[in-house]
Amino acid sequence: MRVVKTISEMRALRRKFTGAVGFVPTMGYLHEGHLALVKRAKMENSAVVVSIYVNPTQFGPKEDFRTYPRDLDRDLGLLQGEGADIVFVPSDDEMYPHRFSTWVDVEKVTERLEGASRPGHFRGVATVVAKLFNIVQPNRAYFGQKDAQQVVVIKRMVADLNMGIEIVVVPTVRESNGLAMSSRNIYLNTREREAATVLFKALTLAKQLRHDGERDADKIRQRMAALIRGEPLAQIDYVSIADAETLEELSSIDRPAVASLAVRIGKTRLIDNMPLG
Ligand code: PAJ
Repeated sequence: MRVVKTISEMRALRRKFTGAVGFVPTMGYLHEGHLALVKRAKMENSAVVVSIYVNPTQFGPKEDFRTYPRDLDRDLGLLQGEGADIVFVPSDDEMYPHRFSTWVDVEKVTERLEGASRPGHFRGVATVVAKLFNIVQPNRAYFGQKDAQQVVVIKRMVADLNMGIEIVVVPTVRESNGLAMSSRNIYLNTREREAATVLFKALTLAKQLRHDGERDADKIRQRMAALIRGEPLAQIDYVSIADAETLEELSSIDRPAVASLAVRIGKTRLIDNMPLG
């Protein structure tokens, strides 16, 4: 496994691969969710590149960029264990040099949900992912269903800008109690960790109601919200039942839909989602 810090070295190594290259972009502090992407990429490609970069431009001024958890040595050990070929770990100066001024702004789909709650977030995500795609030049790139709107944004960008990269979506990896794995779970204390299972419970309720034949999206949203309000530590940011492709809110569930939510548990903001079929 090679650990690469510069764009020029990354490009030079990339040119040596003749077979399919799979790419897994991450912000590090890796867990089983990230590793599921790496495993899948390993199965489907002859070489796997993983990037670890806590991208400052996707954090709002009051968000957790400075305190975002980091542990490069541990991450490298885990990636070695998965058989990653290259780990790209660029610096801020490498990614955003003096005079940097070009941004990728995906419209419409970024106006809702996470985009509405976190202005500028997806501009930062789309810009850094476009840069990483240009640097790594993968055949396939792997993203988690955990960040459902990020997947929609990246697929839109790849289509609109003719990037010609296959986007592979990997199901959400969860703890045994249903809590979706997230680097930010480290912020939760024992009591909050228990409270955080309310997200999965609300999503499971949505899936059950849908399974039982409920088509009225508002009824499902209300039942989810009521369940979450029963948890004293939880504060709802949004509860959504939306078209799985466009993320437009639905009134009647007459096509593939996804239930998604953002909930604050104490000071920690968690997101999760579940496809409703
Ligand atoms: P990060 O939060 O580190 O996540 C990296 C990738 O791992 C994303 O595709 C995310 O959806 C996936 N992932 C996270 N938790 C998961 C889980 N429990 N199950 C399955 N997949 C999971 O997402 C980002 O970083 C950044 O926005 C990035 C794309 C790297 C751009 O900076």
